[in-house]
Amino acid sequence: MKILIVFASKYGFTQKAAEKLRGELSAGKHGVTLINLEEELPAGLETFDAVVIGGSIYAGLIRPEVRKFCRENLAALTGKRLGLFVCCGLENKAEEQIKAVFPRELLDRATATGYFGYAVNYEKMSFIDRIIMRLVSGQKENQFCLREENIKKFASMLA
Ligand SMILES: Cc1cc2nc3c(=O)[nH]c(=O)nc-3n(C[C@H](O)[C@H](O)[C@H](O)COP(=O)(O)O)c2cc1C
Repeated sequence: MKILIVFASKYGFTQKAAEKLRGELSAGKHGVTLINLEEELPAGLETFDAVVIGGSIYAGLIRPEVRKFCRENLAALTGKRLGLFVCCGLENKAEEQIKAVFPRELLDRATATGYFGYAVNYEKMSFIDRIIMRLVSGQKENQFCLREENIKKFASMLA
């Protein structure tokens, strides 16, 4: 199967999660193209059998590049085998947030949806984001929590 993974990440965690997913799918002998939507847009969407779309969540919204990609390619995407994933700090609200951030048309058709974890890296964050994160989470330490089991499960559901 020829699979496209597109993602957007503010501080790099979603990129790590997307790379892990690429590894899982490639190990299953699928051809995988990984695209960071902040850097480029995929060409030839019609040539892929499946498309995976993922991003991190800030203040209840998925990254703007992901919203734009979904909006502009809605018709082409609804005809594909689809996977949708998020990276976000509120694990117990992950499912709720997945439903809120992706268009209904895509959610209804998705073969796989997933929560891939989160990271907090205070050194990388903007001043404002650091203040918000400290206030909201009450945590002072960096965190890294890649949900590898969820990624494996997602890969086996998709292809
Ligand atoms: C300012 C700020 C706002 C955030 N808002 C949310 C949120 O609304 N819901 C949530 O679950 N996680 C939230 N998070 C956590 C991020 O989604 C999480 O750290 C994610 O792993 C970031 O991934 P990225 O490095 O790919 O951007 C927020 C983090 C920051 C710094």
